[in-house]
Amino acid sequence: MRFLVVGGGAREHAIGAALQRAQAEVVVASANANPGLESFAAASARIDPTDPTAVAAFARAQRVDGAVIGPEAPLASGVADALRAAGIPTVGPGRDAARIESSKQFARELLTRHGIDAQPRYVIPATVEEVDRAVAGFDGPFVVKPSGLTAGKGVWVQGVDFTEPKEAATYAKSILVQGGAVLLEERLDGEEFSLMAFVTDSGVYPMPVVQDFKRAQEGDRGGNTGGMGSYSQRDHLLPFLPAEARDRALSVLERTVGALRAEGLAYRGILYGGFMLTARGPVLLEYNARFGDPEGINVLTLYEEGNFAELLLGVANGRVDPNLVRFRLRATVVKYLVPPGYGDRPRAGGTVEIDAAAIERAGPHVYFGSVEPVGPGRIRFSTSRGVALVGEASAIHEAGARVEAALRFVRGEYTLRHDIGTKEDLARRTEHVRRLLAPGAKPSPLPLSVAAPDAPPSSASPPEFQLH
Ligand code: AMP
Ligand code: GLY
Repeated sequence: MRFLVVGGGAREHAIGAALQRAQAEVVVASANANPGLESFAAASARIDPTDPTAVAAFARAQRVDGAVIGPEAPLASGVADALRAAGIPTVGPGRDAARIESSKQFARELLTRHGIDAQPRYVIPATVEEVDRAVAGFDGPFVVKPSGLTAGKGVWVQGVDFTEPKEAATYAKSILVQGGAVLLEERLDGEEFSLMAFVTDSGVYPMPVVQDFKRAQEGDRGGNTGGMGSYSQRDHLLPFLPAEARDRALSVLERTVGALRAEGLAYRGILYGGFMLTARGPVLLEYNARFGDPEGINVLTLYEEGNFAELLLGVANGRVDPNLVRFRLRATVVKYLVPPGYGDRPRAGGTVEIDAAAIERAGPHVYFGSVEPVGPGRIRFSTSRGVALVGEASAIHEAGARVEAALRFVRGEYTLRHDIGTKEDLARRTEHVRRLLAPGAKPSPLPLSVAAPDAPPSSASPPEFQLH
């Protein structure tokens, strides 16, 4: 089997590696030459991955049996449509269905139209006057987010990215006057988790739950990033996430797929729900139409049984054999090595010496992101995330410790979050949720309603499930 991978980051390196483990030939279309993918690709071309015509022409010339699209931008520009029109079964929704990610407005309104109530209170102002009215209407902290793609970096959270409502109003208005749509949402309190699923005509097949670390610095400080790292737990839940909450989130994904279908939008690809576990249960923050980066790296590391190429082809063709959707019962931790200053003012061009073979011998896997080889064992970082290291063990903190131990094989100008997957960090998150869900917990100062946008915020209700 010959598979096209679109994109050249660490997530795509991990997708390519999983295909390679399944004895598939990997062909790559990306803007950059990813040193990991280059090491095993049967063919690789520097093309703009968001150019549907160029990607489809390359895929046809390479006679691939299927294609999988890594990043969001090619989905938003219609690369999956072009590949399908060229007769190539593709993992990734077409441009219209990919609006579930590329337009947060579309996603929120779709859920509202179909009565899927796992949403924060939100307002989508059409004019600058409506921004002022919306801001005045929140009786607690709120967030501002551009509707379009921002690589996870456009969201402003009150109390974190801004203090005064008028700063947020100015930001929201600046998005509007540039012709963009903007959402204002109540700020939810809780812990985030990512639930990804393979979605095709035959059903919705969930993957292990992952928690992503979006803030650049330890203790969840600093700017929002694409993700500094992530972990997953042996039982495919999370330390703070009971099975009931995962099941409710899965039901939100299933109902969303039903809503898309009811509106004539077929979906064959990965659907990623970014949720906040709140006192009211899981609330949807955003959808992505692809594997998360880094979350995809966690789950792909656990996919070693079965045949990944066959699974992807099943997704692309509309029918998945459920026996192929199996993930090993192990914990994983991914940590990204990033350029110093990443998340705020990243410094490009730093060089890093990395003995990838020694790391792999010690256990962790190495996935290359936005780096350029500059000599044997030497790479140069850009301003983006450089290298993902993933450790595996039976407990999350042990998987994290394995990544930390691998750092002895890395030298140079990089930084990372040491706190991802530590016992202390896990305890803090579990305690956070325990406090939120505790019987008789003080009503949150935040309006934790999951009401429809124009309904008044409901008063705090008792938690609906307990931690085990
Ligand atoms: P998004 O791109 O919508 O996932 O937002 C990026 C990040 O902003 C999320 O992962 C959250 O950390 C934060 N965020 C987004 N929406 C909210 C919200 N309504 N309440 C609190 N935090 C939010
Ligand atoms: N880690 C979040 C994302 O892939 O967008």
